[in-house]
Amino acid sequence: MTTVNSEKLSSARFAQATDAFVEVFTASVDFDRRMAQQDIQGSIAHATMLMNCGILTEGELDAISGGLKQIAEEIISGEFVWSIKQEDVHMNIEARLTDLIGIAGKKLHTGRSRNDQVATDIRLYLRSEIKHIDDQIMRLQTAILDLAEQHADTIMPGFTHLQVAQPITFGHHLMAWFEMLVRDRERLQDCSKRVNIMPLGAAALAGTSYPINRSMTADLLGFSRPSANSLDSVSDRDFAIEFTAVGSLIMMHLSRFSEELILWSSAQFDFIEMPDAFCTGSSIMPQKKNPDVPELVRGKSGRVTGHLMSLLMLMKSQPLAYNKDNQEDKEPLFDTADTLINCLRAYADMIPHLSAKKANMYNSAKRGFATATDLADYLVRKGMAFRDAHEVVGLAVRLGLKSNRDLSEILLPELQQFSSLITEDVFDFLTLEGSVAARKHIGGTAPDTVRSAIQTARQALAAL
Ligand code: ARG
Repeated sequence: MTTVNSEKLSSARFAQATDAFVEVFTASVDFDRRMAQQDIQGSIAHATMLMNCGILTEGELDAISGGLKQIAEEIISGEFVWSIKQEDVHMNIEARLTDLIGIAGKKLHTGRSRNDQVATDIRLYLRSEIKHIDDQIMRLQTAILDLAEQHADTIMPGFTHLQVAQPITFGHHLMAWFEMLVRDRERLQDCSKRVNIMPLGAAALAGTSYPINRSMTADLLGFSRPSANSLDSVSDRDFAIEFTAVGSLIMMHLSRFSEELILWSSAQFDFIEMPDAFCTGSSIMPQKKNPDVPELVRGKSGRVTGHLMSLLMLMKSQPLAYNKDNQEDKEPLFDTADTLINCLRAYADMIPHLSAKKANMYNSAKRGFATATDLADYLVRKGMAFRDAHEVVGLAVRLGLKSNRDLSEILLPELQQFSSLITEDVFDFLTLEGSVAARKHIGGTAPDTVRSAIQTARQALAAL
């Protein structure tokens, strides 16, 4: 005689109990319980729709919503008992509901499958995480704008190839970071349009024979519309891949900021002082102050890009429709959202306390012949061809190097040996201040231009 395993999900079909290891191996409750509140929210909306369509009675709906609300509280207070035997968050909640309210609990799953249920939960979860991420980006952007405002006139070297190139203002450099975050927010908002689509009603894959109203469920849950194809609804995870792609770009940007902060706080650059509260010491070297926060953020960018790769690989060979493979989407997604929120938060908290060492920035720009292009442009304006001007300036730089002077410190007669076009007014262009002030077109580094860019950015931020 065969014994029927009474605990097993869909038990009547099975003659054997699940292997003990397989039970643990296939369970997801340890991590997907994180979506419990979304699961309950989705279930209440589903049951409300079923009642409105005459599939559940009002009494059954009341019992279901009352029970689910109690379960939501039990989960928040920590008294809810999660069981691996119930495999995942969905089955754990449904089993508890049936314990609490009896037969009505067993009716909740009418016209639904865990396949459309889990897809709905993930979308609800991501929708709220996207909001938190967006809030943190805005905090960071505000901090950057405030710092840029303080440093609209602070001169520093701008780099190409990490060699001093031309003078810029620190405010202008900060605004480059701001712009990257503007695009990150746009991408996040665009991605959320595709996240906010409702799969419920797709059931296992083919839809349901009950007379359901999917638009009603979508409205109840704040989704923009029901999904258009039942097979696609239960199998699609490209919205999640897109989210991790957007997240990877955000982390790539934070990693670049980090790299600059790390370089600039080194004794070799010495451009900035990182706030003590965001650094740590060394256990052996008493003089050390390490920029741990930017280093960790730079390191964490790798794990988010890793999650993007995981999800792409997870999807690439799956036939339609739902496959158990998709259970593997949760951990990379959760970790992507957590990492983004934590890194952005650390940055938004840290940036207001960053102090710039203005004199060091200024002297470094001066040491690097940063106004060489300005001298060439000056000669071109006086009628010389650019390539010839390039040559003349090369000679002037050589003299500067030999005598350890910046171009602005070389005497007029000395400069005139290289070209008779050079006159006293050249010094207006050779100073760092003159160089930055001249770049006053849209997107330029002139202090007044930077100030107006900051003002425009503040208005745009407030309008979003
Ligand atoms: N735990 C599953 C997941 O995360 C829920 C859906 C299970 N569906 C199924 N047909 N086994 O994907």
